[in-house]
Amino acid sequence: MFNVSREFAPPFALIAPFFVIGSIFYMVATFLLPMFGADASHFDISVVGWAHLFLLGFVMMVIFGAMAQLVPVVLEVGHFSVDFYYIIWPLLAIGTILMVIGFWLAPGVLPYGGMMVLISMLIFLADTIMTLRKVEHISLTVKTIAATNGFLLLGILVGFAMALGIGAGVGIDVNKWLNAHIVLVLGGYVSLTIIGMSLILLPMFGLSHGFDERPINMSFKVMVGGVLAYLAGTVIDSQVVRFLAMLTMLGAMGLYLWQIWLIYKTRARKENDIWFRSMVVGYGSLAFSLPLGLLASLGAPENIGMTAAWFLVMGFFTFLISGHLYKIIPFLVWFERYSPLVGKQKVPMLADMYPKKMADYQFWFSAAGVVIAGIGLLFQSDMMFKAGAAFVAVGAVFLVISVNWMMKFGKQ
Ligand code: HEM
Repeated sequence: MFNVSREFAPPFALIAPFFVIGSIFYMVATFLLPMFGADASHFDISVVGWAHLFLLGFVMMVIFGAMAQLVPVVLEVGHFSVDFYYIIWPLLAIGTILMVIGFWLAPGVLPYGGMMVLISMLIFLADTIMTLRKVEHISLTVKTIAATNGFLLLGILVGFAMALGIGAGVGIDVNKWLNAHIVLVLGGYVSLTIIGMSLILLPMFGLSHGFDERPINMSFKVMVGGVLAYLAGTVIDSQVVRFLAMLTMLGAMGLYLWQIWLIYKTRARKENDIWFRSMVVGYGSLAFSLPLGLLASLGAPENIGMTAAWFLVMGFFTFLISGHLYKIIPFLVWFERYSPLVGKQKVPMLADMYPKKMADYQFWFSAAGVVIAGIGLLFQSDMMFKAGAAFVAVGAVFLVISVNWMMKFGKQ
């Protein structure tokens, strides 16, 4: 498991809220899914609001919590200022809620929410950059963290500029910058972070070793090139450059999938636990979403693009996150409550520190829901989309219960 020394480990009370609040945002967002029909367009402002509720409240919240824990571990240096994290999550949570209110009800509120989210992310970036400065050995992980943080900064600045355009009448062409914002935050930050962290997390949990690492190194470079090219294509307003950049990014994700296959083939742990099954659904969703994304880039109707986005976000991002929660939370709890007792009394195993039945329910409801709703989007069936969304929502309730169960494990 993580090779953390007490010196670098952030306190449990600091990380826990990111996971608890993140899973609650996930549940609330999935409860709201049935308000959309299968014909929802990504241009609908209600979809934009929902996307931020889900991506900021759940995806970014959990990633920030995981990074608070992982950055010192993988870089082997302490945080520049770990106390920053006590203000990151409240600002992010309140800012997200205000942004959603801004998108859905009162555009004037949007810049205020955007400002709070911006500040919380700037604090996160400041701590990460100052922490990176202490590192001596520049590994792929260090490069990933530097590149992803740069893209996040650009992405949220573009987002904030658009928020000022919508809420305060500042003259910015939202249509021109919207896709650059999406590419910077989802491609440049979320996907690249996943690529960078995979080489640490997947071999560790699956006990893989001795595999060729060239595809992931290549995937990293191609992805960075693709995101930069997309940005350039937006600045010079060239449809051709943007299209080629899109193909480049899809190619990078293809290379990444190839790497996952290589890691899978050398896996020594054969147990199909909740983590492994979640990875299968996550990477299966990515494999399904890539060709659909290609068709969408070639001009296929919007339902194809929406289905690709659905499987990318609700299948790939979500299952990678939920699967890792079942590993990371038990470890944090074990470290906090049991590591001081080692050698003095019997301590539990990590594998016994998550609720197996509830995790199974979470997995099956969510996986079935993602597939059913995805088919609904693809074939424009409202009934299937709403039925799938209801399954996803039930799965989300089990996730919240599981997260709380794991957090309370062994608490006096
Ligand atoms: C300071 C933070 C942010 C602000 C102020 C912001 C603001 C905005 C604005 C104003 C739009 C365009 C709405 C429109 O089309 O009229 C937008 C779109 C979008 N943003 Fe953000 N954003 C921020 C951060 C993020 C982050 C971190 C993510 C992803 C992790 C994200 C994902 C998206 C997506 C996917 C869309 C497109 C949604 C759609 O077309 O349905 N945003 N954002």
